[in-house]
Amino acid sequence: MFIPFLTVILAPVVLAQIVYDSAHNTTPIIGTWSTGSKQVSTGSGFANPANESFIYPKTTGVSYSFTDDGFYEVARYRFNSNATEPSCITGVLNWHHGTYQLVDNGSIILTPFGDGYQQIQDPCAAVSNFIEGYNDTELYQSWQIFTDPTDGPKLHMFNFDGSPVAPQFQLSATPNMLPTQLLRNVTPSTSLTSQSLFVNAGGRSWSPASVLMLGTQWLSVVKTRILQ
Ligand SMILES: *[C@@H]1O[C@H](CO)[C@@H](O)[C@H](O)[C@H]1NC(C)=O
Ligand SMILES: *[C@@H]1O[C@H](CO)[C@@H](O)[C@H](O)[C@H]1NC(C)=O
Ligand SMILES: *[C@@H]1O[C@H](CO)[C@@H](O)[C@H](O)[C@H]1NC(C)=O
Ligand SMILES: *[C@@H]1O[C@H](CO)[C@@H](O)[C@H](O)[C@H]1NC(C)=O
Repeated sequence: MFIPFLTVILAPVVLAQIVYDSAHNTTPIIGTWSTGSKQVSTGSGFANPANESFIYPKTTGVSYSFTDDGFYEVARYRFNSNATEPSCITGVLNWHHGTYQLVDNGSIILTPFGDGYQQIQDPCAAVSNFIEGYNDTELYQSWQIFTDPTDGPKLHMFNFDGSPVAPQFQLSATPNMLPTQLLRNVTPSTSLTSQSLFVNAGGRSWSPASVLMLGTQWLSVVKTRILQ
């Protein structure tokens, strides 16, 4: 009971409108969180940023970690199905890390370092499997932590458009993360992070339509490179 109270006192500007009570944010957001069967986790078991590879989790899911000094990491493994083309299931593995901000209006902003990347597997696309950089700033409208009687603390985050991220269980109160610094050499690039994608593309990237769009962009980049 005293810890949440102290948090508010010590950081009145940053956390002004986040209500730390038993009905909402029962524990701090610090730690590692994971959805569903908890097979996806940030840290060393998911991404090898140095060579842009992934260790495939057993099942799909998402995981978020937050440190007490402002760093975050995200690991996501998703399948998107397409009703028009039921056999065209797109798989996306996505990893990024950077710094986060708990905005006083209750939102969370994740600002990546620039070394994030994702692998897109689309059996129906011209290029069915490719890896690209991922450097999109992500806005989450709001977040809450409830205590589930059997599963303990449960983190609910809402995307920029209000849609919910699947609820996440707390894997550990101490974050399990890769080192919070650039983990591969990157050169600033604007070719994939276009202005339209930049704002809130984190949520949008998951729709098959925009995966298709990303694919098209990638193809045009490749074409340009080949032509040069
Ligand atoms: C990438 O690096 C990791 C860790 O060093 C290694 O285990 C893995 O085999 C490498 N993967 C590829 C595709 O080179
Ligand atoms: C909170 O502030 C951020 C940054 O100014 C803004 O992008 C976001 O939309 C705001 N969130 C809400 C819920 O108004
Ligand atoms: C990532 O985006 C930031 C802006 O948010 C930019 O300053 C940085 O150069 C980008 N990094 C890369 C590798 O594109
Ligand atoms: C589903 O696939 C079709 C054919 O590839 C494509 O035209 C359509 O945009 C896709 N639907 C969505 C929601 O992405």
